[in-house]
Amino acid sequence: MDAELRDELRAGLAAARRWLAEYAEEGIELRPVAPATPAPNEPDPNAAETTPAADDAAKATPEPVATSSEPVARAPEPLTLLEEPAPFPPGASLDDVREALGDCQRCRLSEGRTQIVFGDGNPQADLMFVGEGPGAEEDRRGLPFVGRAGELLTAMIEKGLGIPRSEVYIANIVKCRPPNNRTPLADEAQTCSPYLHGQIAAVQPKVIIALGKPATSLLLGRDVAITRIRGQWHEYRGIPLMPTLHPAFVLRQYTEANRRAVWEDLKAASAKASETPST
Ligand code: URA
Repeated sequence: MDAELRDELRAGLAAARRWLAEYAEEGIELRPVAPATPAPNEPDPNAAETTPAADDAAKATPEPVATSSEPVARAPEPLTLLEEPAPFPPGASLDDVREALGDCQRCRLSEGRTQIVFGDGNPQADLMFVGEGPGAEEDRRGLPFVGRAGELLTAMIEKGLGIPRSEVYIANIVKCRPPNNRTPLADEAQTCSPYLHGQIAAVQPKVIIALGKPATSLLLGRDVAITRIRGQWHEYRGIPLMPTLHPAFVLRQYTEANRRAVWEDLKAASAKASETPST
């Protein structure tokens, strides 16, 4: 295959991947078209492509695979939430919020957790990161973002921005590990949301960085397509909010473009925090 054709195919594939990711974020599934049944004794044209290596690659890349361009609407499961009254007074500290959370049994996620993962970092941080929910390592250690995605996030904060991780504050929209690391369901996120709102109110960061679609959707109160809105300033209750890609997504799609996108977003967030006077 000549180099020009190969480059064109690569560019086409990259564009299709981006497009599919956006469809997936919008809650649109692409349904595979049933392959035409080969006539008896006729070789199946798809058979030769299903090698063991291709199978492994498919398992390692759990992304939507489209074989049809027909979009199928999936029942939406928005994380768009109602305003919840906080169960603690204005001016409450992180300790007050933690105390109010208690030995939480308010939703089903409590049943599978080892421990609550409340948050980590400087209670007076200028930068606050909001992720989705604890994974296995976080559940084991009781700290957010300490697994593989956390290592990437920590490296970006420490090596990239040059800020010790202990200087920022990190929290999640849910404080207990969802089974199999699935995305928190709307009712779970809603039940937990007063505590995240309370954490933000207590920390009063200069800038919030929302990691991925669920955190961004929750904080903005509407369902968003993260690849479309990342890198653009938004506002959460008067605080500038920068949506960016979730580090787990970047690990799954470890492209230069994704890494650069997150890096640009973090730099913009850090610069905005530096130029914002303390109150
Ligand atoms: N670890 C977390 O604490 N949150 C995430 O969203 C992902 C991994």
